[in-house]
Amino acid sequence: MTIKHSLTRQSSLDISLEELRELSSRVNELVLEYFSQVADLPVFPETFGGDTLEQVGATLPADGEPVERLINDCRTIIKKSRHNGHPRFFGYVASPATPAGAFADLIASALNSNVTSWRSGPAATEIERTVVRWLGSLIGYDEDARGLLLSGGSMANMTALLIAQRAKTGREAARRGLWRSEAPMTIYASEQVHMSIPKAADVLGFGRDQVRLIGCDDQFRLNVQLLRECINADIHAGAKPFCIVASAGTTNTGAVDQLSEIADVAKEFSLWFHVDGAYGAPAALDESKRHLFVGLERADSVSLDPHKWLYAPLDCGCLLFRDEAQARVAFGEEDADYIKVLEQDADESFAFWNYGPELSRRFRALKIWLTLRYYGVRRIAAAITEDNVLAGYLAELVEQAEDFELLSQPQLSICCFRYVPPALRLQSGDTPPEDEAFAGELNRLNEQTMYAVQRGGRAYLSGATIHGKFALRACITNFRTTRADIEQTLEIIRDAARQFEFGA
Ligand SMILES: Cc1ncc(COP(=O)(O)O)c(C=O)c1O
Repeated sequence: MTIKHSLTRQSSLDISLEELRELSSRVNELVLEYFSQVADLPVFPETFGGDTLEQVGATLPADGEPVERLINDCRTIIKKSRHNGHPRFFGYVASPATPAGAFADLIASALNSNVTSWRSGPAATEIERTVVRWLGSLIGYDEDARGLLLSGGSMANMTALLIAQRAKTGREAARRGLWRSEAPMTIYASEQVHMSIPKAADVLGFGRDQVRLIGCDDQFRLNVQLLRECINADIHAGAKPFCIVASAGTTNTGAVDQLSEIADVAKEFSLWFHVDGAYGAPAALDESKRHLFVGLERADSVSLDPHKWLYAPLDCGCLLFRDEAQARVAFGEEDADYIKVLEQDADESFAFWNYGPELSRRFRALKIWLTLRYYGVRRIAAAITEDNVLAGYLAELVEQAEDFELLSQPQLSICCFRYVPPALRLQSGDTPPEDEAFAGELNRLNEQTMYAVQRGGRAYLSGATIHGKFALRACITNFRTTRADIEQTLEIIRDAARQFEFGA
């Protein structure tokens, strides 16, 4: 193997085959070292603001530096990172990346296809369209789903809202911005909806306040009766409802809204039905959870994030829809010379810019394609199922313990609970009725505990507020976690909490 090009050019950035071999083997070694050691590293490093730069420097180099030094600095960067791949990482919604996915990203970067269209990335476009269909079929949405990959759930939700709005107003009114001077266009979602929905409403110019946040039932699912009442009231007041967003796995507790009932409401009022399954949709692969997703197949669009619960490396979100023509109304109106497609064949003239906001796009599909082919669907489904089982196990342990209180029963893989000093429990095991001062103390104790656990480096949880109570929140989207990790995490929390107990 030889590198045939441009070594005679003065300014070439190509390197010799020998240098390439060295770079490749050193980088590979580092990646192998990382994958083999991630479970033994602190989940959160001992570090402080500015520490990394103190160690690796911040001077812009005028001349190249030796590979040895660069690899060592990369090792320092790894050491100073938070490790979502650690078996006791349960914060936010962040999963470990599969090795297959990580290596796929290397191939994608080396190839550097710009996946704007079939013309600029023929193979990558075919793989992405296939992966999109696979994702639609995996979650029981549609065997022949259309859609595209985006940077994450926030972009997928924003893209869906624009398609939804254009489906209502049509292209002409949108082009002339007419809807802005008319009645407010309203969106409906539960008060537990992810912040990306109000944010998208803001970015798209609808206004955050036009997202009506509907109350929930006792399982944190959108209250469908309140939804109907709110839409009726808005129509009465002259607003123009256009979209309902249901959550299939809320970020706080993993609640799955009642999708069929909400689909009925969307149909009744002729509204776009979007499902935010950025976190939860892959749980449809777990047989025991499938019933929760009945109605998903009736959605006009669905967001799901392979970088969350399909264990793909960041970044990778996906928006699925059934009707490509509606997405084209929102995005397919450009006619600049640089995007003129001369191909006549339907596959060859396909362009992603007609269906989403981005023009240049990286080859995100390869990491999903390689992960699914390397492991097979059965193995991925088993990992997701086990995550759900472990969240159930955590809830069981919490319920049995005299110093923890369960705040939300996991529907999927999120468990919210809090530490309650045993001295404060009543004989019945209940916590006493809370006056404001007591509630505040307990919230503070759990907040301090969460922070201490995070910075202690042995486990990592994030927080949520459940009915005004500060909760320790564990989201298990982690194929490395075992029952022993769950048990150990409760011990770690106890250790941390005891130092803050009232009067301690
Ligand atoms: C339900 C839900 N929707 C949307 C998002 C946003 O996804 P991203 O962070 O990939 O933009 C998240 C992130 O956690 C989420 O949990």
